[in-house]
Amino acid sequence: RPRVLSGMRPTGRLHLGNYMGALYNWVQLQHEFNCFFFIADLHALTTEYPDPKGIAGSTDQVALDFLAAGLDPKLCTLFVQQDVPAHAELNLLLGNIVPVPWLERVPTYKDQQEQLKEKDLATYGFLGYPLLQTADILLYQPRYVPVGKDQEAHVEITREVARRFNQLYPGSFTMAEGAAPWELEAVKTKARKLSGDPKKETFSPHELIAAAPQTKLKSAYGTHTILPEPEVLLTPSPKLPGIDGRKMSKSYKNTIMLSDPESEVRSKLKVMVTDPARVHRTDSGNPDVCPVFDLHKVFSTDETQQKAAEGCRSAGIGCIECKGWLTDAVVETLAPIQERRRHFERNPSLVEDIFHDGAIRARARAAETMYQVRSVMGLRQPR
Ligand code: TYM
Repeated sequence: RPRVLSGMRPTGRLHLGNYMGALYNWVQLQHEFNCFFFIADLHALTTEYPDPKGIAGSTDQVALDFLAAGLDPKLCTLFVQQDVPAHAELNLLLGNIVPVPWLERVPTYKDQQEQLKEKDLATYGFLGYPLLQTADILLYQPRYVPVGKDQEAHVEITREVARRFNQLYPGSFTMAEGAAPWELEAVKTKARKLSGDPKKETFSPHELIAAAPQTKLKSAYGTHTILPEPEVLLTPSPKLPGIDGRKMSKSYKNTIMLSDPESEVRSKLKVMVTDPARVHRTDSGNPDVCPVFDLHKVFSTDETQQKAAEGCRSAGIGCIECKGWLTDAVVETLAPIQERRRHFERNPSLVEDIFHDGAIRARARAAETMYQVRSVMGLRQPR
């Protein structure tokens, strides 16, 4: 199955934007693809320094949110970035081929410096953020990266870096050459047998593929570029608005958390901005410019959406009523998520085991890529 990779920074609990923009997609994709999902704790350091503000604690919260959202460790691999040191290693290796201006022109570089004026973000780590993300992605050679709209530029630079890598280390690469020596020996022995020549030393990729023992290995022994360019996958709501109508984001303090109790969801939505032109209850409104209606489109049934849109246009309903319907729909979406969260909160060692197993699987997959990358870059393999 083709691979999928995505991650989230541990900046506290996750919000509805994270869910509708990415997590929701992940939960569907785990049934179809070989998915790797991780908590990007090293990324948190780029903006959370020097005050650590409990990155480790936030990581635990995000782990709970992953499982609460419905990610199933039997279907996908869940892990924490720091548990797979190859992320940092590939970041370092790719640092040698990425031109600095590529990083400087990533839109989030300037935007975030503007947004977080109180911090000195003129650091090497912050400039290198998209390259670390590139390494996160390419390490798993995925076909798809399911993220929200704000991450599209990061996937774009990932594709550019992959393209450059494949140009600098050109041509297709027979993975048999990059396979672990013991694996290759076993395959060669089989290939000798198949050819009827017990002394045969040189093999075509074709012969190696035919000799590879399992289906999994068969694809691995095919020829391919080392770092294929992944594609971005967006959900239907890749930019969910928050309470103030801007993109829902922790840094704007306009979020509804996946773990917010009903009373909190209700009071947050009560003050959510609406169509600014609808000043009085008796004015007719325009749902097309109303952030509350944007949320209706995501959370409410078609019937409720229609009722809300018609009521708004004809001034038949007030914003309070419209928000009440929305609250019901959001609370309904959150109920099963919160139920699962409570289950995992009661079983912290279960969560730890899940992420421990995931780290083992992720390290094994990452090791395959690193083996190939080191080979073509002319490095020795560490013993
Ligand atoms: P982060 O942690 O800011 O966000 C995690 C995911 O949630 C999506 N998202 C939203 N989607 C729709 N509407 C919103 N209001 C909204 N807010 C957040 C984001 O687009 C993202 O998909 N750099 C990444 C983390 C990362 C990563 C990676 C992602 C590190 N390495 C490798 C993919 C692959 C980030 O800061 O996302």
